[in-house]
Amino acid sequence: MTLFDRFLQKQFDFKFAVKKVKKISIKMSVLVKTTTSIIKEIKNNAKIVNICGIKYLCNYKHISSNYCLISKETSLSKILISFQNVIQNQRRNMSMCESQKQELVSVNESRRFMIDCFKAFGVPQIHAEQQADLLVAADYRGHFSHGLNRLEYYLNDLSKKSTDGAAVPKILKETPATAWVDGCNGLGAVIGNFCMDLAIKKSKTAGVGWVCVKNSNHYGMAGWYPMKAMKEGFVGISMTNTSPLMAPTRAKEAALGTNPIAVGVPAGDDHFLLDMATTAVALGKIEIQRRKGEDIPEGWAQNVEGASTTDPEQACCLMPLGGAEGNSGYKGYGLASVVDILTGVMAGANYSTKIRKWNALGCNEQADLGQMFVAINPNCFDPDFETNMCDLNSRLRNSKPNLF
Ligand SMILES: NC(=O)c1ccc[n+]([C@@H]2O[C@H](COP(=O)([O-])OP(=O)(O)OC[C@H]3O[C@@H](n4cnc5c(N)ncnc54)[C@H](O)[C@@H]3O)[C@@H](O)[C@H]2O)c1
Repeated sequence: MTLFDRFLQKQFDFKFAVKKVKKISIKMSVLVKTTTSIIKEIKNNAKIVNICGIKYLCNYKHISSNYCLISKETSLSKILISFQNVIQNQRRNMSMCESQKQELVSVNESRRFMIDCFKAFGVPQIHAEQQADLLVAADYRGHFSHGLNRLEYYLNDLSKKSTDGAAVPKILKETPATAWVDGCNGLGAVIGNFCMDLAIKKSKTAGVGWVCVKNSNHYGMAGWYPMKAMKEGFVGISMTNTSPLMAPTRAKEAALGTNPIAVGVPAGDDHFLLDMATTAVALGKIEIQRRKGEDIPEGWAQNVEGASTTDPEQACCLMPLGGAEGNSGYKGYGLASVVDILTGVMAGANYSTKIRKWNALGCNEQADLGQMFVAINPNCFDPDFETNMCDLNSRLRNSKPNLF
């Protein structure tokens, strides 16, 4: 019996639970450490998830590149590194030796792991698949803060019963082009998919479909939903409000979330996709700097007094997109407000400081987020839309490079 097996057996009485153990940062080097030191790190950092009788050791951090999975069947010499690292390495054109490649987890394995985790918390298969597909897609596109990293948040909400994994959204009111939906506190991806599919359906007959939902949960990468519309040849727009993290210009406490906006436009075989938070940066980027012990750039965050800070330890609120007032941060503040109006206020959901605070430990309180989903059939307008979109893309791509 290996040391690893003995370690697992000590945990055998855990049932469908996530055990919280002290969290500390692990550097990438953990992946190449000796077996014994890995075991020590695991004991200090790991969570055990019991999925249908199989114990999984999830050894992961919020820095996505440091995510690795170790399953019961995995021998100690074969630490499985998340597929996120595959993508990152590919992006950086890093060459990997054969032994490193063998240690990588495939997209399918990552998806399966997440589905099993959701099912262990009573989520029906079809809902678990939708949620896992969204998280995998976020990692695949390089938005690591909204991929596997979010799994812990969602599982803890499910375990605290502040999210109902089996809930199915229902339409409260509709016209040929609009619908108001109650998300019934289900999983964000399930609700988001339902609403975007409904918007697409309406745009097929009315030319435009606009859906607002209340009683929703964190719906992950906002760009996922316009991407659904683009597959149908439609323009897609989606926004969500989120827990307060951003201090409005001239304020020293958070009153708006990172409130992302995503707009997707098809262009034949090409497309345009904007998917961005309306804060200067996502919170995860500050966490990363904190772990690395490095400063953050001016304009990302402010301290408890309301002054801009470059010390991640002092960061209390995020600054809006643009940063300080002198750098037009009030435009980011304005954009975040527009998101809250078109989502929380228009849907009759929570907004601003009415939204709960949320972290990886989950929350006992329901989120009741508001979201909006729009699909537009471009054929309702200029027949040269596609040609002109392709032309716009190439003009932008071919603009003279700035080498400074
Ligand atoms: N559900 C939620 O509550 C929530 C909240 C906030 C953010 N998010 C998601 O987090 C993810 C990350 O958001 P973010 O704002 O940190 O994204 P980001 O800053 O990485 O990118 C924002 C946009 O800018 C583009 N971009 C990035 N670098 C670029 C460059 N150098 N040149 C040109 N374009 C560039 C990206 O393609 C993207 O469209 C998104 O998927 C977003 O939807 C979700």
